[in-house]
Amino acid sequence: MPEFVVVANRLPVDLVRGSDGEERWQAAPGGLVSALAPALADRQAAWVGWPGVPDAAPEPFADDSLGPDVTLHPVPLDEAEIAAHYEGAANATLWPLYHDLVAAPVFDRDWWATHRAVNRRFAEATAAVASDGATVWVQDYQLQLVPRMLRELRPDLRIGFFLHIPFPPVELFRQLPWRREVVDGLLGADLVGFHTPGGATNFRWLAERLCGADVDDAPIGLRTASGQVHLDGRTTRVGAFPISIDSAAFARRGADPATAERARALRAELGDPTTVLLGVDRLDYTKGIGVRLEAFGELLDAGRLDPATTVLVQVATPSRERVDAYRRTREDVERTVGRINGEHAGIGRPAIHYVHRSLPPDELAALYLAADVALVTPLRDGMNLVAKEYVATRPDDDGDLVLSEFTGAAEELTEARLVNPHDLDGVAAAIADAVAEVGSDASRRRMAALGAQVAEHDVTRWTEAFLGALG
Ligand code: ADP
Ligand code: F6P
Repeated sequence: MPEFVVVANRLPVDLVRGSDGEERWQAAPGGLVSALAPALADRQAAWVGWPGVPDAAPEPFADDSLGPDVTLHPVPLDEAEIAAHYEGAANATLWPLYHDLVAAPVFDRDWWATHRAVNRRFAEATAAVASDGATVWVQDYQLQLVPRMLRELRPDLRIGFFLHIPFPPVELFRQLPWRREVVDGLLGADLVGFHTPGGATNFRWLAERLCGADVDDAPIGLRTASGQVHLDGRTTRVGAFPISIDSAAFARRGADPATAERARALRAELGDPTTVLLGVDRLDYTKGIGVRLEAFGELLDAGRLDPATTVLVQVATPSRERVDAYRRTREDVERTVGRINGEHAGIGRPAIHYVHRSLPPDELAALYLAADVALVTPLRDGMNLVAKEYVATRPDDDGDLVLSEFTGAAEELTEARLVNPHDLDGVAAAIADAVAEVGSDASRRRMAALGAQVAEHDVTRWTEAFLGALG
């Protein structure tokens, strides 16, 4: 039986049903799989998660791509559960609440009841899979109730939890009608990890105020379990573990002549502009896609950028498309792209090249190489791996990164051009400066520092730090 179990909302692969009824598995969206893959590779391991479509209940199956002894254990959800747990409580309640109310969270009792029931199903599935004394690593905001439920079912397990999104300021978290249940749910873990010390500190404060726990006041450092929460004779440690990417793999792809060749071809397809700006995101209202489009549009309006020489490529992966706020965001983004292109594109020469699709890794790497400036402007983001991927992929110290202060990445990538995404003038000025200075000595020095940071703090360091602290 598995000695190491990952529990995540999604399996590392999604089941896709073709129009002919045929079923196949494809890589799930997001950076979670590449982050966790190294931790699974050499162990008797299991991954418990939802297959991504309604009513799919395949038997557990082996996944050789993750390692010779890795088994996937599907947790089925029906249509109503997907609507109430995934689209409702997870993505229309917790997601906006934890992202500083960028959209208004919806508090719905029925959604929450289903959310609780689904968390219990995940806990039960995990309890049935894990070997005696196994280590279980529960992932993210969709499963915050699992650690407590699992602890009650299987006191022998060592349980870690990592939150991949921001943990909110306490004033915002306290709006949640089920706030105590969430904090208590997390306190079922031995170790609770956040991206930043601020998130860990907020959680520890809430554990004291909402659950009456005894807590220490040690400063929360990076990559250690420095905080302690004592409740009912048990101790939960908390810490900040900023996630990262497989930096060497991105660097290898960036240094591959085939990637450089494809990057040249992409620039030619874009009309060989002097400057290529790039945004790559899930199409999510937290990502500030509208902010960078507006800033770019204003620079074109003012004649500070010339659409004949500067183009913006925006790649937006479809995401959570049945949730209202996501539907509205897509409409807004596409309307803005249409307006700016209507005003500034030449015939056959768009100012903004908009792609609403997921791209294969090689194509993404070529785009990172082709782009002179990456625009990462979320209104709030737990980390933002795209910023790190852009920096890691580029083999030379050219390029530039405009990065929102409200990302976890900004706490590490301090040499980026940090911007407040609510300040349109500031974002526009940073884009204009980046375009003007790209390739300059100052810009190269900053890119070299960013490259060194990402090369040193890669995902293996994240996994080792978290699992090392979990013990
Ligand atoms: P989030 O987890 O909120 O989606 P991150 O920036 O942290 O945001 O991670 C997104 C991951 O998804 C990155 O690994 C990025 O390369 C990948 N990604 C984003 N957009 C695309 C796309 N259009 N095609 C392929 N991969 C994408
Ligand atoms: O970063 C947050 C997160 O929910 C990840 O857990 C996930 O990999 C990614 O966003 C994509 O989200 P979803 O599974 O809802 O498509």
